Amino acid sequence: MALAAKIAPSMMCADFLRLGDDVDALVRSGADYLHIDVMDGTFVQNYTLGTDYIRKLHAVCGLPLDIHLMISEPVRKIGWFEIKPGDLVSVHWEADAHIQRTVSAIRAAGGRPMAALNPATPIWVLEDILPDLDAVLLMTVNPGFAGQKLVPQTLDKISRLRRMLDEKGYPDVMIEVDGNVSFENAEKMRRAGADIFVAGSSSVFAKGGSIEENTAKLREAFSRGEKN
Ligand code: DX5
Ligand code: ZN
Repeated sequence: MALAAKIAPSMMCADFLRLGDDVDALVRSGADYLHIDVMDGTFVQNYTLGTDYIRKLHAVCGLPLDIHLMISEPVRKIGWFEIKPGDLVSVHWEADAHIQRTVSAIRAAGGRPMAALNPATPIWVLEDILPDLDAVLLMTVNPGFAGQKLVPQTLDKISRLRRMLDEKGYPDVMIEVDGNVSFENAEKMRRAGADIFVAGSSSVFAKGGSIEENTAKLREAFSRGEKN
């Protein structure tokens, strides 16, 4: 049985000048998490959201956060972030030689640890830390920027990861997909076995629809993906 599909709107795609209005609309439309991209200019070539932003969102909004750390040396920095019970926190396998230590630190801080993989990183690198994870984040574009095109082979990677998790006895470990989760791709990603969908400029924040309309359209795409 597939886990329920969940939406994690990507806050780097929100309107920064009307952030409160966007957060209210996301809550009204039933977002499950708020996805916070943290970039450090080293692991990825960009800067985005950070520690104060997370603290402020926690203060004004009860939704759990989905904190995506695209940073080098994450183990040294976990303590910088306010992590509340129920928050998902992901670290990149590629950024961390000691990822087991880092995911343990996230758990100790009260968060739900996730490992994130770039499109070119094979899923088998996670085999020995599966017992420590609540979810795996598969990048479906190369990390760093909104508005990119899907790396097509990541669709099959979702199916292969779902199979690996089920076969190894981790049916409750969720799969999150991040990057070009368009209405069209979301259907295919759901069919392949994704559970959490990072919704950015390709869906919830797409021009031409309101946040509420786009969210409803995204949920219809999941339903189509759940039919054979
Ligand atoms: C990077 C980000 C982006 C983005 C998703 O980790 O999470 O992938 O905001 O939105 P799209 O790809 O739809 O612009
Ligand atoms: Zn992200």
